[in-house]
Amino acid sequence: MSVSRPAAVIVLAAGDGTRMKSDLNKMLHTIGGRTLVAHALLAAAGTQAAHLAVTVRAQRERVAPQVAQIVPEAVIADQDEVKGTGRAAECALDALPPDLSGTVLVTYGDTPLLTSETLLDLTRIHESAGNAVTVLTAHLEDPTGYGRIFRGPDGTVHAIIEHKDAVKARDEGSEFQHALEIGEINSGIYAFDVEVLRTSLAKVTTDNAQGEKYLTDVLAIARDGGGRVDSHSIEDVWQIEGVNDKVQLARMGKELNRRTLDRLMRESGAIVVDPDTTWVDAEVTVGRDTVLEPNIQLKGATSIGAGATIGPDTTLTDTEVGDGASVVRTQAHLAVIGPEATVGPFSYLRPGTTLGAKGKIGGFVETKNADIGAGAKVPHLTYAGDATIGEGANIGAGTIFANYDGVAKHHTNVGKHAFIGSNSVIIAPRTIADGSYVGAGSAIEVDVKPGQIAVARGRQRNIDGWVARRRQGTKTHEAAEAALAQDQDTSEGEGTPA
Ligand code: UD1
Ligand code: CA
Repeated sequence: MSVSRPAAVIVLAAGDGTRMKSDLNKMLHTIGGRTLVAHALLAAAGTQAAHLAVTVRAQRERVAPQVAQIVPEAVIADQDEVKGTGRAAECALDALPPDLSGTVLVTYGDTPLLTSETLLDLTRIHESAGNAVTVLTAHLEDPTGYGRIFRGPDGTVHAIIEHKDAVKARDEGSEFQHALEIGEINSGIYAFDVEVLRTSLAKVTTDNAQGEKYLTDVLAIARDGGGRVDSHSIEDVWQIEGVNDKVQLARMGKELNRRTLDRLMRESGAIVVDPDTTWVDAEVTVGRDTVLEPNIQLKGATSIGAGATIGPDTTLTDTEVGDGASVVRTQAHLAVIGPEATVGPFSYLRPGTTLGAKGKIGGFVETKNADIGAGAKVPHLTYAGDATIGEGANIGAGTIFANYDGVAKHHTNVGKHAFIGSNSVIIAPRTIADGSYVGAGSAIEVDVKPGQIAVARGRQRNIDGWVARRRQGTKTHEAAEAALAQDQDTSEGEGTPA
């Protein structure tokens, strides 16, 4: 069967979202590392519709750039002071080409789990039945707040009655007095014949409980005009659930995460030990047989290769991890971890960290803007900032790359197979050449040439009898006396026959 692409998708995103109780517009709150409106736009764009229009009003200065960033070719339509979903759709329609024909879909910017497949199903059903309007509906146990699908005696859709209007109808005992008892609700997602939508919207009034121009009124108008109005019911009710407050934001975020993990396990072959404590953003990729241990967050554009181990207790943001790598109890941001490299436990990789194949960043190591070569090791207690570390180099425990002089940051180069002794400070800018050594405990302020060892520390002095003179009567003194007496015995005993 051929896939029908809609002529256009309209995404309504102009609402105030007051129930979010937030300074940030509802459309810009995120789940799974994407804004709500981005989720909606990607589902819309996934239909391959020829046109995409987004209606904005509240916080336009922030919402419009987000729309442009996600789908640059989307048309931005401004809604005026007339309120309601009908007016929002009308403004979008006015911004689309006047000669548009065929099917136009309407969706919401705050319905993040809706998929392109559902929109394409709706389009196909709408077009093959020759409908004027097809509304996506669902049966809910608690339909409170939603518009109800009101059917005539023949079972066809006659109208959508908004919750507030259903309450009014019940109180007044009018035609729709039993609408509140209907469990089938309007998702707010529709397929329209564009001509029907245009002419019907022109007839919609604001004569209702909220004084708004309702998009839902188009159904009864289209029907009166002789058009076929039908519904398509969806089982997966998560797809039509909108975010209205922060409780729903958390609920939808959790469900999105569950769906993401299912996809990674079923399609990518990832092993997720504990889905309840594993949080993975929508864009993240994970390779086959990679183990995600409990309590991890994979954020942004993170990508993990195959056969790797991540976690437990790890947060990776915009980080790339190669095949077979192991990253344990680590926080990383904008880092690249090479194949078969090992990181952690307790490592902090800041932006610009690159670790080559089979390299190592170990416990209590912080790196920033550090390019660490293949097989190089930074195993313990180190700060490596603004550094290039050659392949096979070994950075001893407790080495500090002193990159900041209080005014500016400076770079250090450590050459291939160089060996930095423990507890050294390298005062940048500095070059430690290929194949050179730095003695433990050095403070390096002069470049080191190939083949050299640099030793930069005070010479050791051992002063005999100091404890006896300065720490008379202490346990240390007693221990010293005892040890010295024993040394005496041993040396006296030397050479004597047994
Ligand atoms: C709407 C439907 C209702 C349906 C419900 C499903 C109408 C009249 N009612 O109600 O039948 O059950 O959605 O969630 O359509 N928006 C604008 N401009 C506006 C008003 C809203 O762009 O002037 C946008 C919002 O940003 C949001 C969407 O339209 O994305 C829905 O608006 P909302 O006010 O939440 O509609 P409901 O009252 O929930
Ligand atoms: Ca809503």
